[in-house]
Amino acid sequence: MVPSDHQVPRLDVDRILADDGVRIVVCCGSGGVGKTTTAAALALRAAERHGRRTVVLTIDPARRLAQSLGLSELDNTPRQVKGIDAEASGGELHAMMLDMKRTFDEVVLAHTDPAKAAEIFANPFYQAMSSTFAGTQEYMAMEKLGQLHARGEWDLIVVDTPPSRSALDFLDAPARLSRFLDGRMLRMLLAPARTGGRSMFSLVTASFGMFSRVVQKILGAQLLTDLSGFVAAFDSMFGGFRQRAEQTYRILQARETAFLLVAAPEPDAVREAAYFAGRLGEERMPLAGLVLNRVHQSAVEGLSAAESLAAAERLEELGGHAVTAEALRVHAALVRQTARELEVAARFTDAFPAVPVVSVAAQPADVHDVDGLRVIGSAISRP
Ligand SMILES: Nc1ncnc2c1ncn2[C@@H]1O[C@H](COP(=O)(O)OP(=O)(O)OP(=O)(O)O)[C@@H](O)[C@H]1O
Ligand SMILES: [Mg+2]
Repeated sequence: MVPSDHQVPRLDVDRILADDGVRIVVCCGSGGVGKTTTAAALALRAAERHGRRTVVLTIDPARRLAQSLGLSELDNTPRQVKGIDAEASGGELHAMMLDMKRTFDEVVLAHTDPAKAAEIFANPFYQAMSSTFAGTQEYMAMEKLGQLHARGEWDLIVVDTPPSRSALDFLDAPARLSRFLDGRMLRMLLAPARTGGRSMFSLVTASFGMFSRVVQKILGAQLLTDLSGFVAAFDSMFGGFRQRAEQTYRILQARETAFLLVAAPEPDAVREAAYFAGRLGEERMPLAGLVLNRVHQSAVEGLSAAESLAAAERLEELGGHAVTAEALRVHAALVRQTARELEVAARFTDAFPAVPVVSVAAQPADVHDVDGLRVIGSAISRP
């Protein structure tokens, strides 16, 4: 299916999965469009069809999907998926679910001594930030990707991205959080804690003190104390956070990475995909293509909505053909939906005519096991 009147290049997913030069595939898109499903399906296909030693980093997978990948608990390290059909190809599939709190803890442990780490873990501000702070999940997904990449154990890492409303959060949140962790605001708050109020003669410190008193009024004294403690304990790690975020950004810009945008053929999802495509261009990050997921298609081409509605009416006039008439009405609705979806998809393809696209049909049921993933994998590869 070509979602516009100009010739839209078709996305050849198998070429990407088979390419030894591609080491990272990132599936992004707005909430609920099928990122996790697509990531798992591609990883399975890379292992089964292309013999690659593959790991998929999933984020918040649906329970049943996680179970069928053998992920019964969050353990934050990849587990080999059993029962896949990769004997002939020699590939392997490993899967993991991101545990953002644990990843954050690992980062802290890796970059400070045990006593400092314990102090950080006990800090209420850290506890809140590592489990609920907006952007932490995106940041930790990047951290995990960096870690997996550094281990050098896999031919291919397929990355799912967090269920944000906006696809751009995946690119923006880590920078925002590292700016926050590394930022002036925390240092300003830290100033009075460091000086213990002794250098209050300094104009600068005095203004910091005033600032923190205002913050104290707004946020409460306890939080400020926690925050100061957090900043003091975190001090030696700030640089590292920024450095690693920058490193991962560079990996995402490299030729070894392929971004796949996932969108449902709905206005919001397609708009998000277009924003994201624009942004990838600005960041010089390699966009491989768009997966248009859950596309509807009528089984009977060539019978228009108007024709089938007219036929349904005629049958009803004649009487006694209720089921056929109903089927014709369902067909008419489907034809209209297909046309609407094509129109919506064209908003992307008109803006990015060079970006390859593939459509994946809406399946009759949710995708929650290896067989279902295999069906999606072949749908992505054979449109
Ligand atoms: N082509 C498809 N046909 C039918 N169901 C699908 C298809 N693709 C995905 N689904 C189903 O849609 C639901 C959402 O998919 P998925 O979890 O992959 O989306 P997501 O983008 O990862 O969502 P979130 O943003 O919440 O992480 C799941 O129940 C999945 O099984
Ligand atoms: Mg998901």
